[in-house]
Amino acid sequence: MPTPAARLTRLTTYPLAVLGARVQQMLAKGIPVIRLDIGSPDMPPSANVVETLANAACRDDAHGYAGYKGTPAIRRAFADYYSRRFGVELDPEREILPLLGSKEGIVNLCLAYLDEGDIALVPSIGYPSYSLGALLAGAEVHWMPISEENGYLPDFDAIPEHALDRAKLLWVNYPNNPTGATVGIEFYQRAVEFCERHDLLLASDNPYADVTFDQYRAPSALQVDGAKRHTVEFTSMSKTFNMAGWRVGAAVGNPDCIKNLLQVKSNVDSGHFIPIYEAAAYALRETSDEWMAQRNRIYQRRRDVLLAALPEIGLTAQVPRGSLYVWGRVPTGMLGADYCTQALEHAHVALVPGDAYGPDGTNYVRISIGMDDAHFDEAISRLRRWWAAR
Ligand SMILES: Cc1ncc(COP(=O)(O)O)c(C=O)c1O
Repeated sequence: MPTPAARLTRLTTYPLAVLGARVQQMLAKGIPVIRLDIGSPDMPPSANVVETLANAACRDDAHGYAGYKGTPAIRRAFADYYSRRFGVELDPEREILPLLGSKEGIVNLCLAYLDEGDIALVPSIGYPSYSLGALLAGAEVHWMPISEENGYLPDFDAIPEHALDRAKLLWVNYPNNPTGATVGIEFYQRAVEFCERHDLLLASDNPYADVTFDQYRAPSALQVDGAKRHTVEFTSMSKTFNMAGWRVGAAVGNPDCIKNLLQVKSNVDSGHFIPIYEAAAYALRETSDEWMAQRNRIYQRRRDVLLAALPEIGLTAQVPRGSLYVWGRVPTGMLGADYCTQALEHAHVALVPGDAYGPDGTNYVRISIGMDDAHFDEAISRLRRWWAAR
């Protein structure tokens, strides 16, 4: 067999896939592991959305290619959602591109913008695809440290000139995976202004905008005046509408960026299944604020159960006002990876070691609240018993 491409050696195996393999081994042996490592909603989409999918799939005319840009109806539905939710007006033809999940668009954006020698400015701690996408494109990563002390916000002014000279993309993500940190619109004002000044593309990854607690309402970077000149935002139906397995997201914003992303995508994939677009458009149009609020109340209860238990399981954390996660700091002298290994082996609860999210995550673990109440509460009890017995 020929050797695989050199670019594969630049990539590590996707961090969560390694952990997943160990969990699968344990499950195969009959060990009842509870998975608080996965950031996937445990609840279904609303019943009407599923019914729309099923009905559309029964139609004879719904099985051909939908087109590289998705259907006009799904683009219009994303435009209406942005208008209603954020007061941001988008041209469905030039400023919206449906994606096969936002992860696909995040990586393809790197292929569209980064060459060898270029730099992506990536938060450390952050979602792994920002750095892995850059490496796949042959580019380099400059880490922007974020930490508890600075509210998990990057200090743009601390980015050195030599990195800025070669940088093209700057990634931000709020509500943040994994830390749960949130921002107000003034953060995006600073980010937009910085990117304009340094001729960078601001890539705002915003999949948790509607998974929020305590009356917090997450903004969009596109709400900043003039943001479209330098900004693309990724939105996703995975967490917003409990549709993670459906693989529907969108890139919205700067029209040149949308065009360039489409150029990559149209050479790589051929769009989605038409019934998925139809049901996704229905979800975007018809999902009520009350459905969203009710779902978020369920997450919030779990968040609060977990926060209350933290002292008994050796962790400390800030209160997340958004996302599906609590980002726990492990006791001094211990690494997040050790905590996770022991929790998995002794309490049979899977968590993610913080270093999966970049070099500044070493002393943390990420705990997901996307698990049904009974298993979630059982997982917390197991962690309590394990920690007390150490
Ligand atoms: C911050 C962030 N961005 C992007 C994604 C990808 O979401 P999807 O590809 O399901 O739209 C995730 C998924 O967990 C995420 O946490």
